[in-house]
Amino acid sequence: MTEDFDVRLVEDVKSYTPDPQYRKNAWMGDYQKVYNEFLANPDAFWEKMAKELDWIKPWDKVKEWNYPYAKWFTGARLNVSANCLDRHVHNSRRNKVALIWKGEGGSEQIFTYQKLLSQVARFANALKKIGVKKGDTVCIYMPLVPEQVIAMLACARIGAVHSVVFGGFGAAALNMRIKDADAKVVITADITIRRGKAIQLKAIVDEAIINAPTVENVVVLRRREPKVDLHEKEMDFYEMMEGMPDVCPPEEMDAEDRFFILYTSGSTGKPKGIVHTCGGYMVGTYYTSKYIFDIKDNDTFWCTADPGWITGHSYIVYGPLAVGATVFITELTPDYPDAGSFWNLVEEQKITIFYTAPTAIRMFMKMGESWPNKYDLSSLRIIGSVGEPLNPEAFEWYYRVIGKSRTPIVDTWWQTETGMHMITTMIGETMHPGFAGKPIPGVEADVVDKDGKPVKPGTGGLLVIKSPWPAMLRTVYKDDERYRKYWETIPGVYAVGDLAVKSDDGYIMILGRSDDIIIVSGHNIGTAEVESALVSHNAVAEAAVIGKPDVVKGNSIKAFVILRVGNAPSDRLKQDLLHHVRTTLGPIAMPHEIDFVDKLPKTRSGKIMRRVLKAQEMGMDPGDISTLEE
Ligand code: WTA
Repeated sequence: MTEDFDVRLVEDVKSYTPDPQYRKNAWMGDYQKVYNEFLANPDAFWEKMAKELDWIKPWDKVKEWNYPYAKWFTGARLNVSANCLDRHVHNSRRNKVALIWKGEGGSEQIFTYQKLLSQVARFANALKKIGVKKGDTVCIYMPLVPEQVIAMLACARIGAVHSVVFGGFGAAALNMRIKDADAKVVITADITIRRGKAIQLKAIVDEAIINAPTVENVVVLRRREPKVDLHEKEMDFYEMMEGMPDVCPPEEMDAEDRFFILYTSGSTGKPKGIVHTCGGYMVGTYYTSKYIFDIKDNDTFWCTADPGWITGHSYIVYGPLAVGATVFITELTPDYPDAGSFWNLVEEQKITIFYTAPTAIRMFMKMGESWPNKYDLSSLRIIGSVGEPLNPEAFEWYYRVIGKSRTPIVDTWWQTETGMHMITTMIGETMHPGFAGKPIPGVEADVVDKDGKPVKPGTGGLLVIKSPWPAMLRTVYKDDERYRKYWETIPGVYAVGDLAVKSDDGYIMILGRSDDIIIVSGHNIGTAEVESALVSHNAVAEAAVIGKPDVVKGNSIKAFVILRVGNAPSDRLKQDLLHHVRTTLGPIAMPHEIDFVDKLPKTRSGKIMRRVLKAQEMGMDPGDISTLEE
């Protein structure tokens, strides 16, 4: 565990303190003061946040904590879409721009809050018409287009539970998620557009719904002319909306009703369906959008994630819209049509808050600063990072070249499971590159040993959360035992699965995962998932997968494969295996290297010791190998 990691504290790295105006003008004000207020009365802190939102019926209790199960805002009734849309339409933001989308070739779509509400209501009515009811699961597998956001909000409107699957997953991965969630409807598009090319999406859905008997209908957004033919059970996204009223009363939901399921990789081959509920999730994402990003009415907020990940759920859709922000999204990629594409958009849209991932920042570094330097980035006032550790070199570059040594960086640590930001350096506070920061007001975190005892500052340990928070996961869909594991691995606290170090003054540096999850370009990939995809190929007997440090991607995937008798290693077979993983799990999970081997290091009980493979690969000491067979 911890001994696998080289704990290097960045003592020679400079710290930065933003202009005092930032703190003075921020919603948060003085971090320490607010944090102390929270500690003095956690429920009062969250109650104050919740009161900023619209509830159909108020709560009886802010929190019921029955370890390891938490309920928040018990007895309260609400609808999340009403908070993201109607709340603004009924006040002065009716004509404010909610969503701006840019596609290729200069195409653009703009939605005011009123227009977004009307579209959501019409699509919600269309879903109702095909029989979708409160509590039904709807799988959304779409490109980064406004219709994806509309589909999510329409589910929220009628109380259907969405399970959004990122468009980069392959047919087997999609099939597993559709089946596990018992999806009744799948919403997709004919194509996604990537760097000038059309990539088929619907063909993947066609394959994924074979032997998924719960699927009654497939809704297709047809982007291409001539339009693709629709078969039995399939309907067109916009034709369904024709004639539908643009008013749809929001379904009254209990605060603890299931809101959505989102699958994330775990340390077994089967991904975990993380379950979030309505009330707590809404309060958590609203609070963090407002206070961590400090969103004000005249900001234009751009989070470069896809709604298919938790970052997109919380900080493209629900959080910023609950705040009433103007949200920018794009289907364009950072390197197309050229390496200035994102900076061109920042200049054109006058983006004020920009939120991206370290892997993107390192890619920008590689492409060179002449690209951002061509554009006017002076509209930016806050820049953020999420998904993996922001190493000091990338921090320095981001701060100097994009932030012009002026804008604060919020390096936000959190997870699919936490639903909302948990650790960061609040704007206005001193930033220590390499350290994400401190727990935000509302969150108690620490770095401990495996018995739960806090470790000394400067010593590596396990990151834990010490008390429940509103946006926490409530369970793992159909597998509550996996939920309990989060709270029972280290008794009394939520074990995050990350290694971390705390400094003397309480700043937390995240070192990486402590389990068998590899973060590749900011995406969580379970080693077991890739291994089982490889083993499902008929030439493969056994496979082991490790993550290797990579300067841009953070980690790259290396696979070691033992072939079945009768198969000989060849380049052709390697290509075949890559293709197999691509079509089953998806391009994001493809190994970057494959080695054919005769043996894998194993414990006497037969468990593959990936740690030994990794040490070998990197020329490092494998550490304790007393359990190694022979
Ligand atoms: C990692 C993404 C360092 C971490 C929101 C966590 C980070 C996993 C950071 C969750 C950060 C996320 N610094 N590491 N700022 N943010 N991580 O579920 O290992 O896709 O456990 O959620 O990403 O990934 P997930």
